[in-house]
Amino acid sequence: MFDVVRGDESMIPFIMATERKPEFESLVGRWGEARHRAALADSGYAYFVARHGSEPIGFAILRDWGSPEHVTLVKRIAVCRPGRGYGRSLLSKVIDAVFEETDVWRLWLGVFPENTRARRAYESVGFKAEGIARGSAFLDDIYKDELVMALLRPEWRAGRCNFPAHSNR
Ligand SMILES: CC(C)(COP(=O)(O)OP(=O)(O)OC[C@H]1O[C@@H](n2cnc3c(N)ncnc32)[C@H](O)[C@@H]1OP(=O)(O)O)[C@@H](O)C(=O)NCCC(=O)NCCS
Repeated sequence: MFDVVRGDESMIPFIMATERKPEFESLVGRWGEARHRAALADSGYAYFVARHGSEPIGFAILRDWGSPEHVTLVKRIAVCRPGRGYGRSLLSKVIDAVFEETDVWRLWLGVFPENTRARRAYESVGFKAEGIARGSAFLDDIYKDELVMALLRPEWRAGRCNFPAHSNR
């Protein structure tokens, strides 16, 4: 069974191992344990972990959770076995959580333009491409361009109109 829970310190080893998968090296950033502990202790961050049964299979880190500007960033997301729909399922639950649990208006992220798999996953849950932010990511001592994508509250609400059981904030 697939479910998504809030992450805590016990999940740090799994998150660090996933960030460090060799095939993700050019796709996602990596933090050390102290950085993750600090973020977990900071109310401006929210960690989510996807599980298949009891096995963790992916994570998402949101920054600016509950921010007074009503803008939240998907800072990082990765699943252990990409391309099987797990990322889309994790994203859907994270999106519902942020729009239901906070007053966020804009949920956004940056993706390397060549990361077609991630872009397609984001588009499939409603994110729209907005443009290229030049040199906005610093990874492995290189400044890289990112495609900015975002999902606004009215778009999220419209996407849920077929699910009357959900609230309509
Ligand atoms: C980004 C990520 C979380 C998405 O999760 P996922 O489980 O792979 O996504 P899904 O399987 O739900 O959807 C992937 C989409 O890309 C397509 N896809 C799968 N493999 C692909 C590939 N190698 N190249 C291009 N597209 C691919 C799938 O067909 C699907 O699109 P579709 O619905 O239009 O058919 C996951 O790929 C991942 O962890 N990647 C490594 C880390 C990473 O890139 N993180 C994001 C940084 S911004």
